[in-house]
Amino acid sequence: MNRHVQFLLPFGSIGCSIFRLILFEGILYILKVAVSPPYFRFPSRPLLVTGGAGFIGTNFIIEWLKNSAATILNIDRLSYGNRCNVENIMESSKYFFAQCDIGDLEQIKALLAEHRPVAVINFAAETHVDRSIRSPENFVQTNVVGTLRFLEAIQSYFRALPDKEKDVFRFVHVSTDEVYGTLSLQEAPFEETSPFCPNSPYAASKAASDHFVRAFGQTFGLPVITTHCSNNFGPFQFPEKFIPLMIHNALKGKPLPIYGDGEQIRDWLYVTDHCSALCRVLEAGRIGETYNIGGNNELRNVDVVQVLCDILDRRKPLSHGSYRSQIEHVEDRPGHDRRYAVNSKKMLEELNWSAKETFFSGLTKTVDWYLSHWDWMEQITGSSFQEWTDYNYGNRTRAQA
Ligand code: TYD
Repeated sequence: MNRHVQFLLPFGSIGCSIFRLILFEGILYILKVAVSPPYFRFPSRPLLVTGGAGFIGTNFIIEWLKNSAATILNIDRLSYGNRCNVENIMESSKYFFAQCDIGDLEQIKALLAEHRPVAVINFAAETHVDRSIRSPENFVQTNVVGTLRFLEAIQSYFRALPDKEKDVFRFVHVSTDEVYGTLSLQEAPFEETSPFCPNSPYAASKAASDHFVRAFGQTFGLPVITTHCSNNFGPFQFPEKFIPLMIHNALKGKPLPIYGDGEQIRDWLYVTDHCSALCRVLEAGRIGETYNIGGNNELRNVDVVQVLCDILDRRKPLSHGSYRSQIEHVEDRPGHDRRYAVNSKKMLEELNWSAKETFFSGLTKTVDWYLSHWDWMEQITGSSFQEWTDYNYGNRTRAQA
């Protein structure tokens, strides 16, 4: 063989391999962009999450950082109960945090200009029905006025975006099935077309914020999508809510206070299922639409507590007897909605999403998380939690089962 050819051969094969590699990588990149969520076209720009130190927001960020290469900006005012949640995610280089109220227009505008988010998921809200009965106005301030001001800031940011960024921008507003009101046992679960009929100050404030989100879509062309989820449960939920309160009280040897007869029904959605649903909505939800996200797990409150006691009996047995002996029926919540349930058919048919976790598997994971994060529970149940439980449970009379 010609000495020159012999000399060139290795380079030729290397050159060929490099060419093939570049071609392969190029095709891979084109495929990746084609199948990637739209916001991924701007990988250096963050997804903005509001209320990301709350229960669902914290879980969403943890899942996001596990599964996505894109960065996240969390804006949260850090109210009661969620200060220690952010510490769990502070570490990641893909994560930015700013302590700020969504109603603080100037600060929000400055953060938008600095970070230039590619899309928004709005979790920030006051969410506890019992607290809304005590102080309805706080709910109007955060959920209605706060959301309105935030929408104003987002709308002026959106208006100034170049067209190709406008195309991928989404404002996903996370709401609740409680805006639809209550169901009787015979009625079919709520659909996206069910009329709003909120019964608690909390539900009324969320319904009002949903209307503002819709109005900003219609009036200003903001690409909004609203989701209505059923009752969430899982790690990081503040123990003022039903399931973590029962875990807290059970392990502290306190009564497990069931409101009224305990026959009320909720459709329980494990929080990471909710997070995966929101990712699908962000990726492929249709602008201007609403989506119901449910767990397909309708249970009576009494049954939830009994199953919970049975899991605790196995995971952390008492020296004698069962946690069930701590169950007490107490005076009912005023205006207590009898049943919530949503039909998630639209999520399945349009976005190929359905909940993966059963109630039992989700509850077992939840119990295990609380047992292995008891320091979190101790940290979060300080004096303001005590004040709340004294207020809410101190004067409740016993009720009939
Ligand atoms: P909650 O977690 O407050 O959610 P929501 O009211 O938004 O559905 O309550 C879930 C159910 O549990 C609801 O029917 C009220 C009931 N409940 C009790 O029976 N006892 C309690 O101490 C709490 C907090 C709730």
